[in-house]
Amino acid sequence: MTTFKAIRVHQKDKGTETRIEDISVADLSAGEVVIQVHYSSLNYKDALAVTGKGRIMRRMPCVAGIDLSGVVAESTDPAYKAGDKVLVTGCDIGELHDGGLSQYARVAASSVVPLPPGLSLKEAMQLGTAGFTAALALRRMLENHQAPDMGPIAVTGPTGGVGSVALSLFKRAGFRTAAITGKPESARDYLQALGADEIVDRNTLDLGKRPMESARWGGAVDNVGGETLTYLTRTVNPWGNIGCIGLAQSHELNTTVMPLILRGVSLLGIHSVQMPRAWRLEVWQQLAGPWKPQLDLIAPREVTLEQVPAACAEIVAGKVTGRSIVRLA
Ligand SMILES: NC(=O)c1ccc[n+]([C@@H]2O[C@H](COP(=O)([O-])OP(=O)(O)OC[C@H]3O[C@@H](n4cnc5c(N)ncnc54)[C@H](OP(=O)(O)O)[C@@H]3O)[C@@H](O)[C@H]2O)c1
Repeated sequence: MTTFKAIRVHQKDKGTETRIEDISVADLSAGEVVIQVHYSSLNYKDALAVTGKGRIMRRMPCVAGIDLSGVVAESTDPAYKAGDKVLVTGCDIGELHDGGLSQYARVAASSVVPLPPGLSLKEAMQLGTAGFTAALALRRMLENHQAPDMGPIAVTGPTGGVGSVALSLFKRAGFRTAAITGKPESARDYLQALGADEIVDRNTLDLGKRPMESARWGGAVDNVGGETLTYLTRTVNPWGNIGCIGLAQSHELNTTVMPLILRGVSLLGIHSVQMPRAWRLEVWQQLAGPWKPQLDLIAPREVTLEQVPAACAEIVAGKVTGRSIVRLA
């Protein structure tokens, strides 16, 4: 492994430039564990970083990729040895530390998760940050007493990575689900196969104006923010939870305290990058076991490193249904 290929994002004038380069381990940010990467995956954040459409990198040049799975090549931390199968999601890789869109990665031992039994290296990346985040939302909502008899779970951005896994997870957990989507016709079969009981066209949805409208949803998983999230706060049933995950529509939230103090609605922040390690390990155990969703339906596409820039442009344009993984080994 003298040199290997990686996608690196460089500062260029006021923007960024993304290149596929030959680099060596010595070029990578510090860490105790060197991993031969077998797979990475493409998330919305990776698409923003690679296309330069969003300011994701906090250090440049930086190898892109917030996810990876692979085999340990060497480790100075006794917790890992050559040959161990592992995965890393979040933990600032692909943002502050060099990431997973590379044939080798060097990461902090504290960010490494041993591959749980029941999950292959490929499946780990079919899930990736998207699947992990959806599972974290389910976990937090269940902890805060979300129950199927409170009504259906509305999932926004349901054809995206997080939304697809969320639909599948909540359905399997016994909830009725509604997909609020911009692709009500083209993605109907896909959404129904994942478990959507209802499909709602986000372009014709009446968002309302009052602090509270007729309650319709038991809870919600929101990947888009903005007016859509405001609508969800107005329409969730008493004691329902909204897992606040993303900002594909907007980072803004203009709502009132009324749903919180008159319906007991909870807005639960979901942050997949940094969290107590024990939670991270538990969520991966659940995803490898009873919560494992229909991965070949959600993430059927495999792309090469060379195909990543084009695939990322499609994600940013909102054209993609489901997820793509990147094969590196
Ligand atoms: N909090 C965390 O730790 C965390 C972790 C992962 C991701 N995220 C965030 O969660 C969001 C989803 O991530 P992802 O990887 O699933 O992204 P993705 O695969 O690109 O999916 C985003 C989905 O949002 C919908 N969408 C796109 N543009 C929209 C717009 N202008 N208005 C309303 N809906 C729109 C589309 O679904 P439809 O066409 O079906 O409507 C799209 O498929 C992103 O904002 C991402 O940054 C946060």
